[in-house]
Amino acid sequence: MTQKIMTIFGTRPEAIKMAPIIKALEKDTRFESCVVVTAQHREMLDQVLETFAIKPDFDLNIMTPNQTLATITSRSIALLDEVFDQVNPDMVLVHGDTTTTFAAALTAFYHQVPVGHVEAGLRTYDKYSPFPEEMNRQMTDALADLYFAPTALSRDNLLKAHHDPSQIYVTGNSAIDALAYTIAPDFSHVALKNPETKKILITMHRRENLGQNMIQVFQAMNHILDKHTDIELIFPMHKNPKIRALIHTHLKPSHRLHLIEPLDVFEFHNLAKRSDLILTDSGGIQEEAPALGVPVLVLRASTERPEGVAAGTLKLVGTAEVDVVRAVDELLTDSVAYEKMATARNPYGDGKTSNRIVSIIARYFGLTTDILPEFRDKSDDKERELE
Ligand code: UD1
Ligand code: UDP
Repeated sequence: MTQKIMTIFGTRPEAIKMAPIIKALEKDTRFESCVVVTAQHREMLDQVLETFAIKPDFDLNIMTPNQTLATITSRSIALLDEVFDQVNPDMVLVHGDTTTTFAAALTAFYHQVPVGHVEAGLRTYDKYSPFPEEMNRQMTDALADLYFAPTALSRDNLLKAHHDPSQIYVTGNSAIDALAYTIAPDFSHVALKNPETKKILITMHRRENLGQNMIQVFQAMNHILDKHTDIELIFPMHKNPKIRALIHTHLKPSHRLHLIEPLDVFEFHNLAKRSDLILTDSGGIQEEAPALGVPVLVLRASTERPEGVAAGTLKLVGTAEVDVVRAVDELLTDSVAYEKMATARNPYGDGKTSNRIVSIIARYFGLTTDILPEFRDKSDDKERELE
């Protein structure tokens, strides 16, 4: 008898990191894969579904302009409730920390369906940063039955919270698996056409950065564009109208500033790989850039992904204009500092996360006694040597 695994997601980053897992489930005859999207994002989700050729079995189409957290939660739960009745899954997989993630885990709990949490255990321990993601992730972990912790640190966070050790596995992050589908040897984009300039890629979207924090960063970007005439700034803008209003009000137009629509994930990964520097408040990009060898300045006060900071590939700079300008200046002028960041190791995965997760699910259902070995970052080995 096949086990019915229902994967639920709603936003771009969840889709990108769930896609390789869905592909691995689809290939495995022990499982029946059912894909449900809340479509908390619409256009940005559809870009990913198209790239990975994923056709959802259910599309709840909940997105509205300027939606609130309460409406995302309540609409998702009400509609998912009906899908659970219809599908009757054996397990639900959710990813990460969005409001879809939490709403789906809660609905699964109401239906007494086991929850596998992909990317479990990341923490800042700051209730409002990232907001609402920190609590979405903690509440999802509270409801989960099986934990796919991407790193040893995320496993330790889960152990500290007294989750069942026998159900926690260090799997790596499936973001790294996704790169195997997208990175191409040849890629061109209009923003890359001048070989003489350095390219800085920027994304910003976090709710806690809306307002003064974004304005400060945009002022820093104006300053950097004026000061360094050999750089171009590429800004794929999130669809959120509030962010776009801030961008258009506070970023000075320049022929070296490319304000563009969200890139599909194939384009984004390839453009990121060919960028000299990334500035972002994104979670997923903090995981991908280390695997692409591109330094990242993190535009946030704290991060639930400190492994990249420890490895030296991410630097937490916050959003103050003076700090952002200083950090960019340093990397544009100090080649030693730059090389150190660009060649730091990737602590987030080895590209085998999806197969590992599928093997763990098979063991959960008693379909095998074997699972693939856990993901080990080189620094874990070093720590063990020191013990
Ligand atoms: C959501 C997640 C956040 C994740 C981010 C990834 C929550 C609360 N937030 O934040 O954790 O980091 O996605 O990008 O779960 N919009 C469109 N088209 C789209 C997507 C968004 O028009 O394809 C606009 C809509 O007006 C929407 C608004 O953006 O109301 C905000 O979207 P929402 O999902 O609420 O928040 P994000 O900031 O995208
Ligand atoms: N991304 C993309 N197109 C873009 C910008 C980002 O495909 O124009 C991808 C990026 O590679 C990463 C994910 O979207 O995999 C990150 O999504 P986002 O920053 O919206 O959310 P977060 O990771 O912060 O939750």
